[in-house]
Amino acid sequence: AFPDRVFSGVQPTGTLTLGNYLGAIRRFADYQDRYECLYCVVDMHAITLWQDPAELHANTLGVTAAYLAAGLDPEKNIIFNQSQVPQHAELAWVFNCVTRIGWLNRMTQFKEKAGKHRENASAGLYVYPSLMAADILVYRATHVPVGDDQKQHLELARDIAQKFNHDYGDIIRERTNQDEFFPQPEPLIEGPAMRVMSLRDATKKMSKSDPSDMSRINMDDDADTIAQKIRKAKTDPEPLPGEEAGFEGRPEAENLIGIYAALAQEPKLAVVDRYAGAQFSEFKKELTELAVTTLAPVSDELRRLKADPGYLEGVLKSGAEKAAGLAEPVMRETKAIVGF
Ligand code: ADP
Ligand code: NA
Repeated sequence: AFPDRVFSGVQPTGTLTLGNYLGAIRRFADYQDRYECLYCVVDMHAITLWQDPAELHANTLGVTAAYLAAGLDPEKNIIFNQSQVPQHAELAWVFNCVTRIGWLNRMTQFKEKAGKHRENASAGLYVYPSLMAADILVYRATHVPVGDDQKQHLELARDIAQKFNHDYGDIIRERTNQDEFFPQPEPLIEGPAMRVMSLRDATKKMSKSDPSDMSRINMDDDADTIAQKIRKAKTDPEPLPGEEAGFEGRPEAENLIGIYAALAQEPKLAVVDRYAGAQFSEFKKELTELAVTTLAPVSDELRRLKADPGYLEGVLKSGAEKAAGLAEPVMRETKAIVGF
């Protein structure tokens, strides 16, 4: 019996990509009239990998601008950055003591981001999922719109909520007359789960956080840049497959078709049928046109907002006050449950 509440976050680690847009923030605007929503700029997550301090702050304002450019209304949503609400870190510590090391060892994102030199990765990168669980649960959020890449972390947040509820079950029942103090948050995915892959290596996701990959399409790219990036996108020499042939062994074709379908908000199969047998050169022209027309209003607004940092700082400040107002009583009760 937890009231519906939505939480999601984006790391300020670079300019937002088409992957962030299609997989996450374009969907956020759909929820603002139906749910109470918190959209966070997760700067504490960002520093699990080294960030230049001046760039980190500029990127925090950049993500805020992207939220607004994607259509989020700061009056209807709580838009804020994580480090301004201290309860995130406080609850994360409690969760570090609930989470099992074996659970963290299964997280594929840690393995990807830590790379070959795991011993040299930050401890923060390792415990990232318990901070993410705290982000969500300090608001007792019930629904989390995230891309496909974050599903495993969200499952872990459910495990953490369940273990906390279980380990402290007696005192929770005694203090609250309920069996559960934290809800088990669910993914909020409407339409096909979307994972946009890199345009130079379709086996990796398109990510703003990978500094070596310049092929990504950014939310503030202009028409010429988008056209150039799509022209250069890696493909194979065969024409596009139909439904029968499928995408087996053709990740580039699958990715570009998926991007088209997401931009057009059409079922993937309809796009497959339309372009079966076409050459990539022809398909890429139409994909470019679609990407440019879809992204132009967003990127124009994004550039306009980025030029007004004072406004963005104001949005974050008032958002943090509202967020803290929700987090404070949850954290106070958590401390009492734990015995602090
Ligand atoms: P990034 O890897 O680009 O730094 P974040 O970890 O900050 O992205 O994720 C922000 C949001 O964008 C999350 O909800 C995540 O699921 C979504 N997201 C990130 N990359 C992609 C992608 N390539 N395809 C779909 N969704 C994505
Ligand atoms: Na990520």
